[in-house]
Amino acid sequence: MAFWYFVGIVIGLRIVRSPVGAILSAIRDNPLRASAVGHNIHAYKLTAFVIAAAYAGFAGGLLGVLQAFMPPDAFTFETSGQLVMQTAIGGAGTLFGPLVGATVWLYLSDFFQTTLHLGATWKLVLGVVFVVLVCFLRRGIIGGLKDLGLWLAGRRWRGSPAEDAPAPVEVPRLASVGPSRRRNEKPFLGPALEARGLTKRFGGLIANRDINFSVGQGELRGIIGPNGAGKSTFFKMLTCEMRPTSGRIFFHGRDITDVKVARVCQLGLTKSYQVNQLFSRLTPRQNIVIAALAERRGTFSLDLLRRIDRVPGLDTQVEATLAMVSLTARADVPVVELAYGEKRRLEIGLALATSPSLLLLDEPLAGMSPHERKETVLLLKNIARGRTLVVVEHDMDAIFELAERITVLHEGAILAEGTPAEIQRNSLVQEAYLGGMAAA
Ligand SMILES: Nc1ncnc2c1ncn2[C@@H]1O[C@H](COP(=O)(O)OP(=O)(O)OP(=O)(O)O)[C@@H](O)[C@H]1O
Ligand SMILES: [Mg+2]
Repeated sequence: MAFWYFVGIVIGLRIVRSPVGAILSAIRDNPLRASAVGHNIHAYKLTAFVIAAAYAGFAGGLLGVLQAFMPPDAFTFETSGQLVMQTAIGGAGTLFGPLVGATVWLYLSDFFQTTLHLGATWKLVLGVVFVVLVCFLRRGIIGGLKDLGLWLAGRRWRGSPAEDAPAPVEVPRLASVGPSRRRNEKPFLGPALEARGLTKRFGGLIANRDINFSVGQGELRGIIGPNGAGKSTFFKMLTCEMRPTSGRIFFHGRDITDVKVARVCQLGLTKSYQVNQLFSRLTPRQNIVIAALAERRGTFSLDLLRRIDRVPGLDTQVEATLAMVSLTARADVPVVELAYGEKRRLEIGLALATSPSLLLLDEPLAGMSPHERKETVLLLKNIARGRTLVVVEHDMDAIFELAERITVLHEGAILAEGTPAEIQRNSLVQEAYLGGMAAA
């Protein structure tokens, strides 16, 4: 019995330290982003279910061997309920949490019955202890200890001299994260991305109206438009996060309208979000690892027993991405401790680590200080080398400096398209957008 227990723990440890273990914790943290960086989250959830079922089935078999018989009522609803409670006490999402929870549970039930002689009320008292424990330790005993560790680490970071001054933004290094190492990629000479007649309705509201849009290979395109013009909705449709009501999308000539978001990311098209979508329980380095793993291993791979640091090329890619978004020095700080500008750079880093050949950035400068904006514009110029970039931005100075061509969206439709100079001169744009800004 002890032997099988040991084997179970060793296999469990290996799985937790494998790429699959890391991806499972990322899915628990932020399933939307895990899928957007290219992981097939349904397959990974099914894997977790099958592994858990295998453990439970094996444990049940061992119990039968131990007792030498198995009554039909061996596993009642109460048994399942106890397992959930033991996990909640110890800490869900941790390997040793259920073990600690089960130990506490069994000890207390024994203590109440044999030492305190509570009689039939022991279940009630244990129930109260459970409620109190869960109220004060929401993430269980192990989760509470981890939070304490994070808090202490956070205090250390807060106390460090680097944190007293605003975090210095290093000039991005020219280390380039290879934009396109896509498997079986054939050269395509047409537009990198094309949308034909793209329309999105939310009930009666038309967020995007018959948009025809095309970006050339290697182009740096800007998209501007007032709040609510439909820019973010347009991006969500382009990366297949949202299905259009009508219209088709072509990436390197291939119709991707009905493709899943994870698959599209694997093809080399991804975006960064207007509102940060980070794995906030992980560190920046672990965040980037999750994104890079998708590019290294594909949408789904069952390397349950492989150590994560044995994935070929992963380290180099993670370090290069961290350097590119200037987060090397802050790579092991908990994400919650990062300054806002650093979180924004990590948001871009997550998209970048998937090695996209076409990157869409939704308001990358939003909420940044003027100094951070300047540095991030530099970073964007760096990123644009060797890949196609489409940037939605409200910062006019930045977008006019960055973009080769600009598309203006207004009330869900394309109002104008042209070089920055043409857009600045365009009276329709001035009236609909810049005029409104000036009036404001
Ligand atoms: N999931 C949704 N359900 C219903 N309406 C939505 C949804 N998403 C967006 N909208 C609506 O669609 C319109 C376009 O929204 P979208 O977020 O695309 O605008 P935007 O150009 O990105 O604006 P901003 O500059 O403020 O980010 C808005 O009127 C918005 O309220
Ligand atoms: Mg938006």
